[in-house]
Amino acid sequence: MYSICRRIIFLETVAGVPGMVAAMTRHLHSLRRMRRDYGWIHTLLEEAENERMHLLTALHLKRPGPFFRACVILGQGIFVNFFILSYLISPRFCHRFVGYLEEEAVITYTKCLNQIDRGYLPMWAKMDAPDIARTYWQLKPDAKMRDVILAIRADEAHHRLVNHTLASINPEQKNPYKPGE
Ligand SMILES: [Fe+2]
Ligand SMILES: [Fe+2]
Repeated sequence: MYSICRRIIFLETVAGVPGMVAAMTRHLHSLRRMRRDYGWIHTLLEEAENERMHLLTALHLKRPGPFFRACVILGQGIFVNFFILSYLISPRFCHRFVGYLEEEAVITYTKCLNQIDRGYLPMWAKMDAPDIARTYWQLKPDAKMRDVILAIRADEAHHRLVNHTLASINPEQKNPYKPGE
């Protein structure tokens, strides 16, 4: 159980990076070139915010120790720099890459749901949804952790669609997703 918690928490600390870096890069690009952004920035910021909520929710399953936190700091230091550089070189590659990562996230959460249903994660099966998750996803008062995982998986499937779409259109084309979509 703790290995899946560790995997989820670590992945979510990384997952919140691309949206923020991509939004920042496009924001700075817009300022520098004195050109409009075509509506991408808000979608990317929303994705980053959404991933951060996944992380804050996952922290209710397990509190990471000092070694884990050190790995997160190191991982962030490497990944942020790698992603900024990659985004400057090829935004299309980055969105495609994130699209595939999101597919992996959907698979991870599906495995997690299967484990709950097969009785391998008895603690999660009976655990109530944390308050932060119930408020954020507007879940029913009696929502369980399983409902939260379902909501998170739906978010990941949406990120997958958005990123594959952004990878398939020209970076100067209008973003088809409006804020909140
Ligand atoms: Fe996530
Ligand atoms: Fe995601």
